[in-house]
Amino acid sequence: MQNEGQHLARYAAEASGLRSLNSSFCIPHSAFASPPSASTSQTQPHTESPRAVSTHPVVLAITGASGAPYGVRLLEVLAAHGVPTWLLVSAHGWRLLEEECGIEGEPALRTATGGEWHSVHVFDDKDRGAAPASGSARTRGMVVCPCSMGTVAAIAHGTSRSLIERAADVTLKERRPLLLVPRETPLSLIHMRNLTLAAEAGATILPAAPGFYHRPQAVRELVDFIVQRVLDQLGLEIALVKRWGGE
Ligand SMILES: Cc1cc2nc3c(=O)[nH]c(=O)nc-3n(C[C@H](O)[C@H](O)[C@H](O)COP(=O)(O)O)c2cc1C
Repeated sequence: MQNEGQHLARYAAEASGLRSLNSSFCIPHSAFASPPSASTSQTQPHTESPRAVSTHPVVLAITGASGAPYGVRLLEVLAAHGVPTWLLVSAHGWRLLEEECGIEGEPALRTATGGEWHSVHVFDDKDRGAAPASGSARTRGMVVCPCSMGTVAAIAHGTSRSLIERAADVTLKERRPLLLVPRETPLSLIHMRNLTLAAEAGATILPAAPGFYHRPQAVRELVDFIVQRVLDQLGLEIALVKRWGGE
């Protein structure tokens, strides 16, 4: 059995082969209707070496809410840092990846997120017997980004009718971090009640609602605002954006 230090050393060694992040560590142009502007003054240049910052995998689910670029960017950052990631995409998650990012299928998603998927494992959302469906498989936690109201409802009521729903159910019962990044507007009472149920069960609700106090100039900055909050909630030491107060 490898200890934590050996794990980190192994992942760091693997990650050291990654490309320089300075030039290519950006949201894929395909992720937006128009390419990000050259002005990214509020987004910190990402010059540090990629390194592994987690051993147990992060379960990342992309579902069919608007906001696919958030999921793409999050996946890109996790992959670039060699963070072990179990990727689950719902059928409508794939549809929104195509609608909003022009990404059709797994090879295109891989390319759009930098191409380095040595730490990423993809599971079929229809396979409820896969590793994320069991609490015995240890994970760092799960993030559903973006999270549709349909998936919020399923999680709130523990329906477990897909691998994503089951993995979220497992995450809650194991008392691991579960982050939901919902996107819908306006919210119905049903949406709010389901979000409340999920929060009462232990989920963190992190709405896809970026702040504007940094005066963003590009869509990428809005995306990074949310992705940074997700990374912070997961306890990953990865800095994407300038923080309030200049940090
Ligand atoms: C273009 C498009 C945009 C959508 N945007 C949202 C959205 O912002 N929020 C939401 O809850 N559902 C949205 N939906 C509906 C979900 O995709 C739909 O409810 C789906 O069944 C969700 O399934 P999933 O959670 O398994 O991915 C959208 C659907 C389409 C086709």
